[in-house]
Amino acid sequence: MQKQALSLTLALETEQRNRKYELEDKLRDHRHEVDELRREFKDETDRLQRTQREALEALERHCRAELEDERVQKSKELQELRARLGTEQQDLNIALLGKEREIQDMRSQLESLKSDLDREQTIKGNLQKQIAEVSTTAMTLEDRNRALRAQIDFLESDSKAQSDSFANMEARLQDALRAAEEAKQKLIKEETERRVLFNKYQELKGNIRVMCRVRPVLDSSEGEEAKLSFPDTKTSAQLDVTGPEERSSLGNTIRKVIPFEFDRVFTPAVNNEDVFGEISQLVQSALDGYNVCIFCYGQTGSGKTFTMSSADGMIPRATHMIYETITKLKEKSWTYTMEGSFVEVYNEELHDLLTPASEGKKKLEIRHDDARKQTTVLNCKAVALDSADKVELMLRQAQNNRSVAATKANERSSRSHSIFILKLIGENSATNERCEGTLNLVDLAGSERLKHSGAEGDRMKETQNINKSLSCLGDVIEALGRGSGHVPYRNSKLTHLLQYSLGGNSKTLMFVMVSPLEAHLKETITSLRFATKVRIILLRFLLELMLTHGRCTIRTLVRRSLRRRPRRESATADVVRRRRWTSMRGRGQCCCC
Ligand SMILES: Nc1ncnc2c1ncn2[C@@H]1O[C@H](COP(=O)(O)OP(=O)(O)O)[C@@H](O)[C@H]1O
Ligand SMILES: [Mg+2]
Repeated sequence: MQKQALSLTLALETEQRNRKYELEDKLRDHRHEVDELRREFKDETDRLQRTQREALEALERHCRAELEDERVQKSKELQELRARLGTEQQDLNIALLGKEREIQDMRSQLESLKSDLDREQTIKGNLQKQIAEVSTTAMTLEDRNRALRAQIDFLESDSKAQSDSFANMEARLQDALRAAEEAKQKLIKEETERRVLFNKYQELKGNIRVMCRVRPVLDSSEGEEAKLSFPDTKTSAQLDVTGPEERSSLGNTIRKVIPFEFDRVFTPAVNNEDVFGEISQLVQSALDGYNVCIFCYGQTGSGKTFTMSSADGMIPRATHMIYETITKLKEKSWTYTMEGSFVEVYNEELHDLLTPASEGKKKLEIRHDDARKQTTVLNCKAVALDSADKVELMLRQAQNNRSVAATKANERSSRSHSIFILKLIGENSATNERCEGTLNLVDLAGSERLKHSGAEGDRMKETQNINKSLSCLGDVIEALGRGSGHVPYRNSKLTHLLQYSLGGNSKTLMFVMVSPLEAHLKETITSLRFATKVRIILLRFLLELMLTHGRCTIRTLVRRSLRRRPRRESATADVVRRRRWTSMRGRGQCCCC
């Protein structure tokens, strides 16, 4: 049994092994088959893809060819359309040109018709005028005819009546001639008296006057407007300025209102014509034989040049007024000659603004004639102003020469003083009177505080010279106001040049020009305080005179004090006074405030 079992087991194992081999063979065959199938499948796929790609390419080629045909067709059509459009446009342009020509023809026809009409109307007007004239002439002739007839009747009537009538007419003629001569003499005498009285009136108003002008804001881009008000519209002499922010003793931020008063305050609304109305009396004084000086003081941009030299400024207006007055004075036997010069003081040197640089500049020298109280500038061109237009030419010439002299003309003009000098010489053929007056119109350098620190070289020199000349001007006015015997004219070129137009009988007007902008407020207050100081000195001087010499007139007192023998002043007093002016200008303070 065991043996049988063993052989069965062996047979089973053999069978198993055979089966296993068989299975493995089958599996191998199957794998082969699968691989084969996969390969075939891949080949088939590749072939199909290739076929499809080829079909697609063929299709694309076909489409492209169709598309190209289409495009060619369309572009041909487009070209045809364009050609047609071009022709149509050309036709239209030709038609348009034709129409324009027609319009032009019609216009010129209209113009010629209009001018025909105008001509006809003028002819009609002239004819009407002629008819009116002819009828007036006819009436006059009729009147004359009647008068002549009456005369003939009279001549034919009685010779005694005739001779009486002639004698009567002769006597009346002589009376009329005598009356005319008397009237002329009276007129001439009255002119002389007018001059004396007018000067007295001017002296009573003050030989030195201070006025203020506030310019308008030009446009909104200029910035915030300062708070300026003009409280008294009756006297037009006051200006209130709201000062900068300050800390009060209680620690609050406040803005004080600072009041100023001058002989006259011009608001921004006032134009050059009205300003001239106020100064025209001084121009009259120059014509009457006095020396007159009008200054414009203020920071750059405050309106000095606008007031003096603009087309309707003081210079053109003064010359026009002078021409008109000279013409009227002819019937009072006065004949005048008028001569103008224009100079500039730059860095304490005089320059002639009427001589172009190309002509070569000569050194200008100041010469004073003490007897005639007149100043001449040697080597300086003087233009005979024999027609009203010449002054405009002269102003333009001065402006051009100034521009040639400096590349930055505007900058230079704010750092130099320009002086327009008008000499007026009058002679009276009936009374043998002669008068010689000078009108100086001065556009001063910008008064803005120029600091020495930081400035170097030329700029430093300029700064020092401007500061010096402006404080010298202050010194001179102060010395004149105090009636001091010594007036320091020679301390600056400007005051030296204007020596005879600042003291004695001459008339001085200082315009302090004010900008209306908040950004310029500090400079505005400085300028106003400087001008106030000038005015206070003068008022105080006049008051002192009135109190101490009650019986005398102010005019005689002023004259007497100006004629006083020079008081010897110590050098230190002079230096102290100069320092006071300079520091006042610098700090914007007035010694009285
Ligand atoms: N009263 C005024 N009315 C109108 N414009 C003015 C007036 N004053 C000054 N301007 C204008 O203000 C600007 C500065 O004035 P400007 O006369 O050149 O100043 P400054 O000579 O003091 O430097 C200029 O454009 C001027 O035309
Ligand atoms: Mg100017």
